[in-house]
Amino acid sequence: MRNVDILVGLQHGDEGKGRVVDYFAFNYSCVARFNGGPNAGHTVYTASSDEPLKLNMIPSGIVHKNVFNYIGPGCVVDPLSLILEIKRVEDTLGYKIKPSQLGLSEKAHLIIPEYVEKDCKNNSHLGTTKKGIGPCYAAKSDRVGMRVGDVLKKQPYADFLEEYVVGSDDRFLDHLNSGEVLCEGAQGTFLDIDHGPYPYVTSSNTLASHACTSLGFSLHKVRDIFGVFKAYATRVGQDPFFVKWDPESYKSISEIEFGTTTGRQRDIGPISIADLKYSIEVNGVTKLIMTKADVLCGHKFNVLFNGDSINFSYDKCDNSSKFLSYIQFLEFNLGMPIFNISTGPNRLDWLSKI
Ligand code: IMP
Ligand code: MG
Repeated sequence: MRNVDILVGLQHGDEGKGRVVDYFAFNYSCVARFNGGPNAGHTVYTASSDEPLKLNMIPSGIVHKNVFNYIGPGCVVDPLSLILEIKRVEDTLGYKIKPSQLGLSEKAHLIIPEYVEKDCKNNSHLGTTKKGIGPCYAAKSDRVGMRVGDVLKKQPYADFLEEYVVGSDDRFLDHLNSGEVLCEGAQGTFLDIDHGPYPYVTSSNTLASHACTSLGFSLHKVRDIFGVFKAYATRVGQDPFFVKWDPESYKSISEIEFGTTTGRQRDIGPISIADLKYSIEVNGVTKLIMTKADVLCGHKFNVLFNGDSINFSYDKCDNSSKFLSYIQFLEFNLGMPIFNISTGPNRLDWLSKI
């Protein structure tokens, strides 16, 4: 049964995946994270609260009471920060999160304070998020890491997290066998440890295919692969290959581009058609989703294409010829239609082309 879809970022992370997952989650019984840890930052605007919900580790389907949100074996988890995140989400949503809504795999690896210290001390030239992600994956590969299931029982926070761990891998299997699963990628294609611009990458694989190995299901189960990209590019952390716009000339864009996890200013820049085409191909994208189209309203901006810089501008995300010419240029050169376009931060700010 093909009952698994995978959603990934096609750029450098921060494409707006969280809000897309939140919007799509109605159609699924389970949303599963398959890589990374609290280095991720997803912002979801709920209908019930003016405050955006900021998520690091918890999958973005958490707003939906009937969805099982699973943190899978390939993730790395900082237990204390996860406990705080659960409390924060409970405060925002106004109810307790039950084990039927959130599960943590016993095979996920634990981030311990030593890893965070190492990340802060050794990795500053990479501009990491300093959450201990790299040292944790290094320990895992070196077979000296600690799995959640092996360690949790001995720790003081065990009681609190244990209810989310016990039976969660079996529950995920149930959803794989008889539910509808959406795998939520963290970071983006150009942060993949094997296929991104090493060493300016994260320490896990971010491509869609990694969902299968990491969560443990057959390739035959995959149906759609959603590829999410932003109407422009952003990068946080070190990356000498990233083409930048002058933040002074694009003040209103620069002002809203801060890292959800670290609060760092993101660099902003043009979309590169070659990069996006590569992402579409390497992930096997079947449906393209564009976010933040509204942010470019009123700006003159460029796109990198075949060694040239092509200029565009539009004032509104509507049927105006200026907006359509940007969308049609992208669709023609990327070789596929854009399935959905987000035009604002709220849940229903979408321009659906279907
Ligand atoms: P690490 O993942 O903390 O090791 O950081 C490695 C690189 O990936 C740094 O440039 C980070 O800024 C970047 N990075 C990691 N996670 C994210 C994310 O979720 N969004 C954007 N950039 C990220
Ligand atoms: Mg983010």
